[in-house]
Amino acid sequence: MKKIGLILNVLLLSMVYAYAQELTSPSGTFRLTFSLTEKGEPTYRLDYKNKSVIKPSALGLELTGNMQKVEFAGEGESTKERPVHSLYDNFTLIDQKRTTFDETWHPVWGETKDIRNYYNELLLTLQQSGSERLMRIRFRLFDDGLGFRYEFPEQKNMTYMVIQEEKTQFALTGDHTAYWIPGDYDTQEYDYTKSRLSEIRGLMQQAITPNASQTPFSPTGVQTALMLKTDDGIYINIHEAALINYACMHLNLDDKNFVFESWLTPDANGTKGSLQTPAQSPWRTIIVSDDARAILASKMTLNLNEPSKIEDTSWIKPTKYVGVWWEMITGKSEWSYTYDLPSVHLGETDYTRVKPHGKHGATTANVKRYIDFAADNGFDGVLVEGWNIGWEDWFGNAKDHVFDFVTPYPDFDLKEIRDYARSKGVNMIMHHETSGATRNYERYMDTAYRFMKANGYDAVKSGYVGNIIPIGEHHYSQWTNNHYQYALEKAAEYKIMVNAHEAVRPTGLSRTWPNLIANESARGTEYQAFGGNKANHVTILPFTRLIGGPMDFTPGIFEMDIQKINPNNRSHVNATLANQLALYVTMYSPLQMAADFPEHYKRFIDAFQFIRDVALDWDESVYLEAEPGEYVTVARKAKGSGQWFIGNVSGENGYTSHIDFSFLEPGKQYTATIYADAPDAHYKTNPQAYTIRKVRVTNKSTLKQKVAPGGGYAISIVER
Ligand code: NOJ
Ligand code: CA
Repeated sequence: MKKIGLILNVLLLSMVYAYAQELTSPSGTFRLTFSLTEKGEPTYRLDYKNKSVIKPSALGLELTGNMQKVEFAGEGESTKERPVHSLYDNFTLIDQKRTTFDETWHPVWGETKDIRNYYNELLLTLQQSGSERLMRIRFRLFDDGLGFRYEFPEQKNMTYMVIQEEKTQFALTGDHTAYWIPGDYDTQEYDYTKSRLSEIRGLMQQAITPNASQTPFSPTGVQTALMLKTDDGIYINIHEAALINYACMHLNLDDKNFVFESWLTPDANGTKGSLQTPAQSPWRTIIVSDDARAILASKMTLNLNEPSKIEDTSWIKPTKYVGVWWEMITGKSEWSYTYDLPSVHLGETDYTRVKPHGKHGATTANVKRYIDFAADNGFDGVLVEGWNIGWEDWFGNAKDHVFDFVTPYPDFDLKEIRDYARSKGVNMIMHHETSGATRNYERYMDTAYRFMKANGYDAVKSGYVGNIIPIGEHHYSQWTNNHYQYALEKAAEYKIMVNAHEAVRPTGLSRTWPNLIANESARGTEYQAFGGNKANHVTILPFTRLIGGPMDFTPGIFEMDIQKINPNNRSHVNATLANQLALYVTMYSPLQMAADFPEHYKRFIDAFQFIRDVALDWDESVYLEAEPGEYVTVARKAKGSGQWFIGNVSGENGYTSHIDFSFLEPGKQYTATIYADAPDAHYKTNPQAYTIRKVRVTNKSTLKQKVAPGGGYAISIVER
């Protein structure tokens, strides 16, 4: 009887599982198909509006052989051990669960006040014959795309896993156009290259030249979020969500067949990370639309992250700030205090006895000037870099022990500045340059955060310039990613907001940890003073870097000729002044810097008004026009107010924008103040030419607005 039952069961199972598993998105736009090949290899494919966007693609992982031992203990059999390398074949499907989820949640800060998280889910449990190991694949199909991840339940036959490589494929349907940066384990600070997939190999060398010290992991290796466009106008975005305790995923292209495969960032010993069951991978995400605006509006990456783990979020505040920063970036002043290299450091050096070079930016008087400017213009915060000892010891030297994060230079009077800022209602923003010495930072972290709170700082800009110490770790390895996460969670304990530079690019973690108010993790405005950015850079970032979370882009540069600031710096800011205003709207972030000097803002005080006025937090965002590399136009409604702001940035070719104001409330009269490029503006030859005009608008109005090459426009709209 038992035997017959077993046979029946096997028969039934094979009937159910011989066929592919299909899942459709709530509205039916997407269809996911999962199947196992004859060899038991898991594969998936994705169709959008009945067209294939991802052809059958392999799933799975390869583990290292020497670490992975599996025990076989069949009844009555003796226990055997053998190394097992693969988690990509010999699988059978032993269980499947389907669910639907529909919930609307409200982010602490964001582009919209409500976010709908609506998907159909398929959870498959696979068992590997021979090893009897279990692996689950969880698919979530939304109306804007697909997320899936691997899950490794706790089990007798798999406790530790050392990953040799993840084997997730994205098989594309043709030689699409890609907007890409080179595969690099340590930086994303590149301009984007737009090319066919087949051209990546030929263009790789040229693409890495600006960061010549870096070597891509492969001639066809690129980073995510990767933006793609098919010849029939379908936009595809590949990235990841909820990158926690795992290595960052890059993509390696088989450029004969147009198949991308995951390529994880190695750790110091060359493997790709290790896990202990129960464990899971981050989500692999594919956002797809035939309308570029829908890629920008997608909330899938956030939705695939867990809800906030911070209960009381009242201390997390969108912040507009100025800072002692651009003067060092342009080379006008210095982070360091002296040119004499102190022989002993960290508190033991008597800085009062060394000769100052006189170019130190973070002096009490200079900081007070910024505090005054912030207070006069309604800014929330002031960032000061180069306030603490260690810079002269660090430059050019990878060392474990450079900064202690608590010892100011002698000309930076911490207490005087604290009291002054307090009296003016301005918050100080701390700077922690870690010099890549992550262990050193961890050692000091509690002391440093406590020191911040004691001195009135509730936000930190951290930085990871240079090689990661311990030696051999990369900026994006599992080990280092765990460090960023540790710093973020520890900061939350102290009610500190974090803006990490040079850290791994975000993957929507700010839903879970909303104190992560921004990251850099891409080529920011600083490069405008290091030789310049491509004019179209800011039209691509929203499609790539911003998919994972906000960027501390530090816009607002009004003086484009850097030589006027520092005669030795011949850089030119490749943007018009109106473009710089628009960035406060197009580059969504709850943290926004006005990066230029007070004296430059005073020269263009009418244009500066837009930076004073623009909101940081939004009830609604409407993407009006978008094409990667060409233009982005977005309208946003300020949180809790009827005020709207619009921003447009355009690339090398300029643009003529057509706006329809139908997003405004019917029956209401508004005044729109339009800050636009003057007719003869051009980012190279005439960047500071702008016009400001006021027009009356209603929800029936339309507007045609010309945008200069590398230009833009910004509009603020108030009810009359
Ligand atoms: C690089 C950061 O991006 C920049 O903003 C900072 O000023 C320097 N590192 C120094 O920490
Ligand atoms: Ca940087």
